[in-house]
Amino acid sequence: MTIAEELEVEHRSIDTRLADFVASLEAGEVRATSYRDSAGELRQHIYLEEQWLFPPLREIGLIPPVLVMLREHGELWGTLETIDRLLDAASPDLDALREACGRLGEQLDAHNQKEEAIIYRAAVEQLDPQTQESVAMALADETMPARWRCQLAP
Ligand SMILES: [Fe+2]
Ligand SMILES: [Fe+2]
Repeated sequence: MTIAEELEVEHRSIDTRLADFVASLEAGEVRATSYRDSAGELRQHIYLEEQWLFPPLREIGLIPPVLVMLREHGELWGTLETIDRLLDAASPDLDALREACGRLGEQLDAHNQKEEAIIYRAAVEQLDPQTQESVAMALADETMPARWRCQLAP
C-alpha cells in the first residue's frame, strides 16, 4: 500500500468506530470504548501527520494547504476534548454527546476529503521515496508522546 492508502484506511477506521459510538447513543446507551478507540486512533493519526507528513510537504512548497489542515486539526482536537469532558460526567448528557459527535463527523468529512485529494496525493506524487518510507515506518510504529497535543489545539 502507498502511504496515501494507509492513511485513508485510518480515516475509514476512525469513522467506523465513531459511527459505532453514535449508534450506541441513538440506542440510549453510551459505548464509551468505541469512542475512546476512535479518538485514540484520530489523535495518533493527527500526530503522525503533523510530525512526519506535513514538514516535508511544507519543504516542497505546500504551505497554504498544510496550514488549513493544521487549523482543522485544532478544531477537531477541540471537539474531542468537548466529548471527553461530556463522557467524564457522572451521568453523561446524551443530547450534548449526539450534537458534539455530529459536529465531529462533519469536521472529519470536510477535513478528510480535502486531505485525501490534495495532501495525500501530493505526498505520493511529490515526496521522494526515502521520505515516503520514513512516513511508512512512523505509521507502523503507532506511538505518540504522552500528553502530546496538536500544534493548533485550543
Ligand atoms: Fe489530518
Ligand atoms: Fe488524515
